[in-house]
Amino acid sequence: MSEKQPRVFPSDFLWGSATASYQIEGAAREDGRTPSIWDTFCRTPGKVFEGDTGDVACDHYHRWSEDLDLMTELGLGAYRFSVSWSRVQPTGRGPAVQRGLDFYRSLADGLLERNITPAITLYHWDLPQELEDAGGWPERDTAERFAEYARLVAEALGDRVRLWTTLNEPFCSAFLGYGSGVHAPGRTEPESVLKAAHHLNLAHGLGTQALRDVLPSDAQVGITVNPGVVRARTDAPGDVDAARRIDALHTRIFTDPVLHGSYPEDLKRDTRQVSDWSFVKEGDEATIHQPLDFLGLNYYTPTVVSAPVEGDTAPRNDGHGASEHSPWVGSETVNFHLAAGDRTDMGWVVDPTGLVQLLRRFQEEASNIPLYITENGAAFEDKLDAGGAVHDAERIGYLHGHLDAVHQAIEQGVDVRGYFLWSLLDNFEWAYGYSKRFGIVHVDFETLRRTPKASARWYAQVIGSGQLPVEG
Ligand code: FCB
Repeated sequence: MSEKQPRVFPSDFLWGSATASYQIEGAAREDGRTPSIWDTFCRTPGKVFEGDTGDVACDHYHRWSEDLDLMTELGLGAYRFSVSWSRVQPTGRGPAVQRGLDFYRSLADGLLERNITPAITLYHWDLPQELEDAGGWPERDTAERFAEYARLVAEALGDRVRLWTTLNEPFCSAFLGYGSGVHAPGRTEPESVLKAAHHLNLAHGLGTQALRDVLPSDAQVGITVNPGVVRARTDAPGDVDAARRIDALHTRIFTDPVLHGSYPEDLKRDTRQVSDWSFVKEGDEATIHQPLDFLGLNYYTPTVVSAPVEGDTAPRNDGHGASEHSPWVGSETVNFHLAAGDRTDMGWVVDPTGLVQLLRRFQEEASNIPLYITENGAAFEDKLDAGGAVHDAERIGYLHGHLDAVHQAIEQGVDVRGYFLWSLLDNFEWAYGYSKRFGIVHVDFETLRRTPKASARWYAQVIGSGQLPVEG
């Protein structure tokens, strides 16, 4: 039966892995880099687990060549990394710092020498602190600054990098950074969430225009979003409406203007107590709506919601970190539920059906532009055993289930071009510090020694054979 057949992937499927600058680089004060909002946030008492910081992280800034060798061992076809804005344009304005650009140039060249396709993300949440001091993402000028920065990086690396992503998960930057405050810069201002979301969208639009100006015509430009796979707990109209509201805030606030050129009317209606949306200027939605070469999707777990219960104002556990301040502007009282099933160390339910659902949705919504899974993976409490090995069978199970989901989607006609596993290395997991391990390579944060886990060997086999083995 087909259940027992190995899943064979298209021969040109891109097998990748992903990281982000602040989570792995370290070298926080070297070569002209100045603080980003995450450096500041880590030093704000109570914000990050045990006061962990990205000062050293995986020390990838100095060990990148060793890390490239690990990628070669895995047989990776592509590597998704992000550029630290504070390293290449420390104040968020003015000329680029050569040493910062040189680091990413060497990295890209090292990848190309090893036949690994570099995939750049320009912004993975680490805004230069000076731009936050000037107002941050709720300020329109930040979008202009981003476009300028995008141009600088494209001028320096456009001759060697073909895959370009403007932003990573603008949902987290806006809603967790300015709403619940569990991410940097830790502000809790409902209207700022909407302004930040709009200016991130605008940054994507202006940034894409800047990239097109500079990059060769075969460059591929896209954005990475993390749409919520939102499910109503029951078919009751109140629950269905709760799902609609959260979908508007989590997903359509970004994907509607980016893919279709306008904000959803229901979103504006749901949030009208908070804002009149006058920060959207004439022409903005057209600017945001740039032709794209691909859409990047990050998926970890689905979300289950139900209607608000009258009089209930308890803080919600929405899976994005505990806060007294709801990020769900205008829909603060929607209830969130944990679905049944196995959980990862993040408390996230393992449910690959959400990935099939997501891919099918965006196959349609993105009008058939190619899709990439730009992140998917799981944290588990990995430990080195007496022999120095990590047997992360649960992660292998998670990856198997989700790659199977990708394969199902491909069989159903969805144009998925590649998969970037989160993450290559255990790293700084934002507000959770070093307490959550997502890597397929274990990192000892005392010695910085790297040890490939069983999942790394498993992934190498999948890549090498181009197929998913029959489980068991
Ligand atoms: C995503 C982030 C990534 C990592 C994973 C676990 O939201 O883009 O940096 O933290 O979650």
